[in-house]
Amino acid sequence: MAMKLNRHPSILIVISVVGILTNRTFSEETGQPDKIKSPTFSEHIAPIIFNHCTSCHRENEAAPFTLSNYKEVRKRGRMIADVTQDRFMPPWHARSQDYAFQGERRLSEEQIELIRRWVTKGMPEGDPSFLPAMPKFVNGWQLGKPDSVVKMTEGYTLSAEGPVI
Ligand code: HEC
Repeated sequence: MAMKLNRHPSILIVISVVGILTNRTFSEETGQPDKIKSPTFSEHIAPIIFNHCTSCHRENEAAPFTLSNYKEVRKRGRMIADVTQDRFMPPWHARSQDYAFQGERRLSEEQIELIRRWVTKGMPEGDPSFLPAMPKFVNGWQLGKPDSVVKMTEGYTLSAEGPVI
């Protein structure tokens, strides 16, 4: 189906829009996110953050601040709701497909909606005894030491506006 559609970009756009609309209606109609009326950090939000954000948002990693406990997440709650809704975070540049990538880094509509609702409802902490264990993160090379590391011979200045070539 994907190959057929690729030859007709205009049809693809129409179908994508319909897809987005149907998806929205679908999750509202099924009431999936409504099942949890008052999400708390400990029980509902921490599992999403620890599993999808903390691998980068921790000490000595690429992200500019840490997201590893209630205080840190609460402090940026509104921004977190925005960037997850925009799908700016977690970073994942592959477009939606009808097949999944291994290790795909994408939140579900339900997870995004849950975060939004948690923020709207004042970001309650809940009972810390519900907190999930922090996943075991790998430090340094994520896929093991590479066979070869190539260094650039000169420095390169990347301007704040990009482009990242
Ligand atoms: C693969 C690594 C990675 C993952 C996973 C990740 N982030 Fe980030 N995040 C970054 C980096 C790097 C930046 C800085 C990006 C920049 O400044 O352009 C960032 C920036 C942010 C910002 C600031 C955005 C801004 O406009 O300044 C927020 C908020 C954020 N991340 C939230 C999250 C949340 C919530 C998750 C999980 C749902 C998440 N991130 C997952 C790497 C990651």
